[in-house]
Amino acid sequence: MTWLELIYPALKPWLFRLDAETAHSLTVKMMVISHKLGLLRSVGVSAAPVSCMGLTFPNRLGLAAGMDKSASAVDAWAALGLGHVEVGTLTPRPQPGNAKPRLFRLPEHKALINRMGFNNPGIISAVKRLEKRRSEAIVGVNIGKNFDTPNESAVNDYAFCLKAAYRTADYITVNISSPNTKGLRDLQAEDAVRHLLTTLKTQQALLQAEYGKRVPLLVKIAPDLNDLQIESLARVINEINLDGVIATNTTIDREVVAGHPLANEAGGLSGAPVRDKSTLILQAFRRLLKPSIPLVGVGGILDGRDASDKIQHGAELVQIYTGLVFRGPALIRESLAELSMK
Ligand SMILES: Cc1cc2nc3c(=O)[nH]c(=O)nc-3n(C[C@H](O)[C@H](O)[C@H](O)COP(=O)(O)O)c2cc1C
Repeated sequence: MTWLELIYPALKPWLFRLDAETAHSLTVKMMVISHKLGLLRSVGVSAAPVSCMGLTFPNRLGLAAGMDKSASAVDAWAALGLGHVEVGTLTPRPQPGNAKPRLFRLPEHKALINRMGFNNPGIISAVKRLEKRRSEAIVGVNIGKNFDTPNESAVNDYAFCLKAAYRTADYITVNISSPNTKGLRDLQAEDAVRHLLTTLKTQQALLQAEYGKRVPLLVKIAPDLNDLQIESLARVINEINLDGVIATNTTIDREVVAGHPLANEAGGLSGAPVRDKSTLILQAFRRLLKPSIPLVGVGGILDGRDASDKIQHGAELVQIYTGLVFRGPALIRESLAELSMK
């Protein structure tokens, strides 16, 4: 058991008294320091490596995008036992994100609502930081567009980020599903997504030739898709042979938390309330996608059973975010133990 896992239950009430974003920055700073002091050691669950998209993942469990937006703690996350860390979302230019407060806890529902709005230091600076990483964990770079780039030229932002991250990333995720950048989710519409992903696939092939290394390209999708949208997205992904799909981002649906005083805060809802919605989308895509295209299951993993459920419903890999806030690093140990039984 790591030092952080031991103290998290005692620390949590103090952290929860702070505003959610302050608590988050403090925890990450503490993790980085603990790691430098050698206090974060692997959780002691041995897991079999998993081959996926031509990469070897140390285990099936990873950190979802948004927790380490600036790639500042990759080695610390890996030391906690996570097999992959997805950094970002990163945009071409740095941007401050939306006005604070922009992150809210709904402890009664084991949920968060966020409208961060891609606050990030810009792809160039994050990639420089990533180049210095030491751990063996697989690193995904999640890319997006700047808030003031119109959708008509969004492809240029994604292409810029793909090029900037290609040499350093193990895989790259095209995020078109955050609810907090106006119009971003419209890029999931059939024609828009075909244009975007075809352009990026072509660029991926050129970069592969240039760097002599193939970096898989994934897309991250929303949980709020109707059947027609699911079918058209799956059609395009099959057509262009994308390397993988991450299901899902946060939801704009508030049905599960209706009546909560914070339910009407704008943004994406994550944690327990998005679990079933995400899993339904995961299942639908598993049914529609070619078997060769793997899925990453994310959304509402709060315990080991939730993690293995995602695998049961078609995911090759899983990711966690909100569960870590409510459960701390114990969730990593528990999930790895459960996943190693699969
Ligand atoms: C505060 C916060 C910020 C997030 N930022 C991003 C982001 O920048 N890019 C992204 O693709 N997903 C982002 N997400 C979504 C998560 O990666 C994940 O898809 C979602 O929260 C569902 O998983 P969970 O229920 O385990 O949190 C964010 C989530 C939260 C809670």
